[in-house]
Amino acid sequence: MSRLASVRRTLLCLTAAAVVSAPLLAARQSTTLKDIVPKGWLIGVAINQNQSDGRDTQAVDVITRQFNSISPENLLKFQSVHPQADRYTFDAQDRYVAFGRDRGMAVIGHNLVWHSQTPAWVWAGADGGLADRATMLARLHDHITTVVGRYKGRLRGFDVVNEALNEDGTLRDSPWHKGIGDDYIAKAFEFAHEADPGLELYYNDYNLATQPAKRAGAVRIIKDLQRRGIRIDAVGEQGHWRMDTPTPQQIDQAITELRATGVKVMITELDVNLLPSGPPPARGQAPSAADNPYANGIPDDMQQALARRYADIFRVFLKHRDDITRITFWGLSDADSWLNRGRMNFPLLWDRQRQPKPAFDAVVKVLTEK
Ligand code: G3I
Repeated sequence: MSRLASVRRTLLCLTAAAVVSAPLLAARQSTTLKDIVPKGWLIGVAINQNQSDGRDTQAVDVITRQFNSISPENLLKFQSVHPQADRYTFDAQDRYVAFGRDRGMAVIGHNLVWHSQTPAWVWAGADGGLADRATMLARLHDHITTVVGRYKGRLRGFDVVNEALNEDGTLRDSPWHKGIGDDYIAKAFEFAHEADPGLELYYNDYNLATQPAKRAGAVRIIKDLQRRGIRIDAVGEQGHWRMDTPTPQQIDQAITELRATGVKVMITELDVNLLPSGPPPARGQAPSAADNPYANGIPDDMQQALARRYADIFRVFLKHRDDITRITFWGLSDADSWLNRGRMNFPLLWDRQRQPKPAFDAVVKVLTEK
C-alpha cells in the first residue's frame, strides 16, 4: 500500500473518530461490557500472543477493562502446544493462563481435538500410513492428560472437540475419526474429565445456526455423550456470521433447539464478516477492488449497518439470557481479526486504533435497555 494510501486511511479513521463528541467518547471509554451483560454471562475475547505476552499494551488495556473471559486464538491448539511427539511448549501458554488469572477472568481453552492445526506425527502410523486405534487413543490420552492436567483448577472450560461435523450433520471423516472411530469424541471428553473433574467441557462448531442438519448432528453428539454418562456442559456455536446470515429468527431457533438438549449454549467466536465471500488473495497478490471494497476505510452507512446488525444479534442473545453462558468475540479489533487475510475487514466492535465503533454503542444500548 502506498504511503499516500496509508496516510489517507489514517486521516479517514481519525476524522471519523474526531466527529465523535468528547462526552460520547468519554461515555464509550467508561462503559464496559462486563459490567452491563446479564448476571452470570461471560463476555469474552480471543487474544493473540502479542496480547497475552503484554506487548500490545493498547489492546491489553481495552481487554482488561471490557471483558471477564479470554480464549486463546491459537496458543492452546495441538500444533502450538505439542509440536513433536516428545515435545510440549508451555511458555507462552503459561503466560496466556496467567494473563487471565491475574485479571480474575474466566480462562477458556481452545481446543484439544481438531482436524486442523494438528501436527502430522499425531496421526502417523509406523508403516507411514494412518496410526491404529490404540496408538491414536494413547496419543490423544497423553495430550489431553498433559495439557488439561497442567492447568488443573485454573481454566473455566475447554473446547474439547472442535468442528467434528459435516454440513449435513454426519461426522467429518477426519484422521481422528478414521483412526479411532465414532467414539473418538466420547473418548476425548472422558479423558478431559479424568484430567480435571472440575473443568467445564464443550463441543464447538460453526454453521449450527444456519444449517439445521448440522445442528441436528450436534444434538446427536450431545445426546450420545449424555447417554454414555459423560460430562458435557455446553455447546458452542462459533458465530462467524455475515450481515444477513443467519437471520435473528435462525439464531433464535438454533439456541432454542441446542438448549433443549439440557446443555448451555455459547457463542464462542463472534464476528460479522463484511467482505464478499471467496478465497483470500494468493499470498503477496493484491486483492481486486471488488473483493476488497473497503481498502480505504469503511463508509459511515456501512458502520451504521454493522451497528444495527450487532444490535439485532444481541437482542436475540438477551431473549435467551438464561440459555446462554458465554459470548466471545473472535479478536479484539478490526486490526486483530483473522478475517482480514490480505484484505481490509471491519467485523468487530473496536477499530484499528482500538477505539469503540458505532457497533459497540449499539451493543451497549441493547444491553442497557433490558
Ligand atoms: O505462527 C506462524 C508463524 O510462525 C508464521 O510466520 C506465520 C506465517 O505463515 O503463520 C503463523 O501461523 C498462523 C497462525 O494463525 C498464527 O498466527 C497460521 O499460518 C494461520 O493459519 C493461523 O490462522 C488461525 C486459524 O484459526 C487456523 O485455522 C487464525 O489465527 C485463527 O483465528 C483461526 O481460528 C479458527 C478457530 O480456531 C476455529 N474456528 C474457526 C476460526 C477461524 O478460522
